[in-house]
Amino acid sequence: MPTTVTVRPESTEDHARINAVHERAFGQPDEARIVEALREDERFDPTLSLVAVRKREIVGHIIFSPIHIATSDGDLSAQALAPMAVLPECQYQGIGSDLVREGLIACRQAEHRIVIVVGHADYYPRFGFTPAGQYGIRCPFPVPDEAFMARGLVPGALDAIDGVVRYPPAFGGA
Ligand SMILES: CC(C)(COP(=O)(O)OP(=O)(O)OC[C@H]1O[C@@H](n2cnc3c(N)ncnc32)[C@H](O)[C@@H]1OP(=O)(O)O)[C@@H](O)C(=O)NCCC(=O)NCCS
Repeated sequence: MPTTVTVRPESTEDHARINAVHERAFGQPDEARIVEALREDERFDPTLSLVAVRKREIVGHIIFSPIHIATSDGDLSAQALAPMAVLPECQYQGIGSDLVREGLIACRQAEHRIVIVVGHADYYPRFGFTPAGQYGIRCPFPVPDEAFMARGLVPGALDAIDGVVRYPPAFGGA
């Protein structure tokens, strides 16, 4: 029976371990580099970069960062959930779910209204994400409709939006 994990905000001492989690989970360095680039943004909020800790080891990480939805009425603020990762040997134990749930709570506490994710269509709906296209939110790059998802954090947050998400350069210029 795996021991439970604690989810807490990252600290500067965690950076190397966080990189290692992404590199092992994704099998490539790209996502760790994205995390490092997101920290360089002056709007970076460490309370929205969460680690899952088991027996003092970091076994998972999730980060939310500012994006906006460009509409004809102006820009709407939102948060991007990306990337997230759990060490391969710790997957399928609910750690990723703990990270998403705690992350959404932290986003709500920070008074954010909308979270956008591009990811597994069979994973994120369990946390209340649904395809963003139904709210008039479009992705700036080609992606299957069901993989581009939004989650409102307050009532009405996703009402009557017609716009396209703009990601910062940290994500690779999308
Ligand atoms: C996706 C990921 C973060 C989930 O973490 P986790 O701790 O295994 O997730 P949980 O234990 O809370 O949930 C397990 C669910 O995740 C899904 N899942 C796990 N790994 C998955 C993968 N590589 N691809 C698709 N779905 C995956 C399973 O469908 C499982 O669903 P089930 O409960 O219906 O069986 C983790 O598998 C991971 O790090 N994968 C590699 C990196 C990645 O793809 N990150 C997400 C994109 S940014």
